Amino acid sequence: MKISSKMKKALNDQVALEASASNGYLAMASWCEVTGYRGAANYFYVQSDEERTHMLKIVHYLNDMGATASIPATKSPTNTYKSLEGLIRLALKNEQAVTKAIHKMVEIAQKEKDHSTNVFLEWFVNEQVQEETKFETLLQKFDLIGRDKLAINEIDKILATDAAAPEDPGA
Ligand code: FEO
Repeated sequence: MKISSKMKKALNDQVALEASASNGYLAMASWCEVTGYRGAANYFYVQSDEERTHMLKIVHYLNDMGATASIPATKSPTNTYKSLEGLIRLALKNEQAVTKAIHKMVEIAQKEKDHSTNVFLEWFVNEQVQEETKFETLLQKFDLIGRDKLAINEIDKILATDAAAPEDPGA
C-alpha cells in the first residue's frame, strides 16, 4: 500500500488545517471565558479538543501508510470577536473551508484509485456534515430567541448543555 506524493501533501495540509482549527477554537473558547460566556467557553474548549483528535487521525494514517506526517507550525488565530454570533459565524466559515478541503482530497483519492484513503476520508465527509449543521443550527438560535442580553444568556446555556452532551462515539 502506498499513497502518492500528491495525496501525501494534501493529507499533510489537512493536518495543518485541523491544527489551525484546534487553535482557532481554543482562542474562541478563551475569549468566551473572559467575556463571561461560560457555556460557550466550555463548548469551544471541547470543540478545540475534537479538532486535535481529527488532526491525530490523519497523523496516524499517514504514518501507518509509511508516508510520515509532518507536524506544522500554526499561525496565531484571531483573538477578538465582535459578538458571540459573529464568533459562531466564523466557526461555520472555518468548517465550510474544511469541508471543501476534505472533498478535494476525496476527489484526488478517487482519481488515483486510492481506495484506502478514499475509505479513510469517509469518516471526515460525514463529520463535516455534522459540523456544519451544528453551527448552522446554533446561528438559527439568534433569529429564534433573539440578540438581547437575556437571549444571549439563553443561548449560552444551550451551548453549556451541548458541551456536556456525550461525544459521538465515532469522533
Ligand atoms: Fe475537523 Fe471541524 O473539522
